[in-house]
Amino acid sequence: MKNTRQPITKPAFVDPLADVLRPGQSIELLKELHILTRDGKLNQDSRRKLKQVTHLCNFIEPLLNEVLSRQDTLTLADHGAGKSYLGFILYDLYLKERPGSHIYGIETRDELVEKSRTLAAKLGFSRMSFINTTVAESTQSAQLPATIDIVTALHACNTATDDAIQFALAKRARHIVLVPCCQAEVASVLRKHKNDSFGKTPLSEIWRHPIHTREFGSQLTNVLRCLQLESHGYQLTVTELVGWEHSMKNELIIATHTGAPRGNARERLQQILQELNLQELEARFLAPLES
Ligand SMILES: C[S@@+](CC[C@H](N)C(=O)[O-])C[C@H]1O[C@@H](n2cnc3c(N)ncnc32)[C@H](O)[C@@H]1O
Repeated sequence: MKNTRQPITKPAFVDPLADVLRPGQSIELLKELHILTRDGKLNQDSRRKLKQVTHLCNFIEPLLNEVLSRQDTLTLADHGAGKSYLGFILYDLYLKERPGSHIYGIETRDELVEKSRTLAAKLGFSRMSFINTTVAESTQSAQLPATIDIVTALHACNTATDDAIQFALAKRARHIVLVPCCQAEVASVLRKHKNDSFGKTPLSEIWRHPIHTREFGSQLTNVLRCLQLESHGYQLTVTELVGWEHSMKNELIIATHTGAPRGNARERLQQILQELNLQELEARFLAPLES
């Protein structure tokens, strides 16, 4: 009888970490961040988290390279740093071998700041500092230098993203990377003046229903932020942070300073605030830079 049995071939070994780890990436760091388990494995949740942070790093890498093509060192400030996943992974991937470069994490929760300090010391990431202050106050902090090359704010709550923009403008940042969180301020002002707006403009239909007030307020906030940045000489990429599926808030704004303000950005900003009865937000979006 003919032997029809196929020889058993062993499946090729596929490293389960291969599609998410970058060459040279510190396993120890990923364990400390609880992205990898103690025995070096990934669970579903942490695989997603790692993919997300790596995905964002892919957007930031060209910005780091751009700065480092013009100077030997760079400074990066991460606002609303939380557990500082982003800062630690950026340092590990790109700045470990760049003496003189420094990452600052700004965070209000004491315990997160302490944990990050302890972890940085343990890993020997000596050019990382964690500052326990608000984004708004950090502009005046003596612990930060007068200028910062790159400013990031990833899901910094409510108006903390706006404070991060003010910080970036004051520190003359070359690049700004924002993934805004929900911002309730614009929606609350739309709501406050709803009746006046009904009499003033048919556009008020856009935010008549409460859910639309919230959603439109949130979108409008990012539009106003974009115009604000453009009026200060930044060129923008506004896109989706694909891969961030778990989060409702996945708009990514990357701003690069060119020094050439978009011609009518400031005027447009003023007109929108006027048209939508939002003049009280002029201080937020239209304040001139203190020199
Ligand atoms: C949603 S978490 C995001 C953490 C981190 N950026 C991330 O994406 O994993 C927002 C963080 O911002 C911090 N935060 C909120 N408002 C802040 C403020 N005004 N100044 C500094 N930190 C703030 C919170 O304590 C929290 O840790």
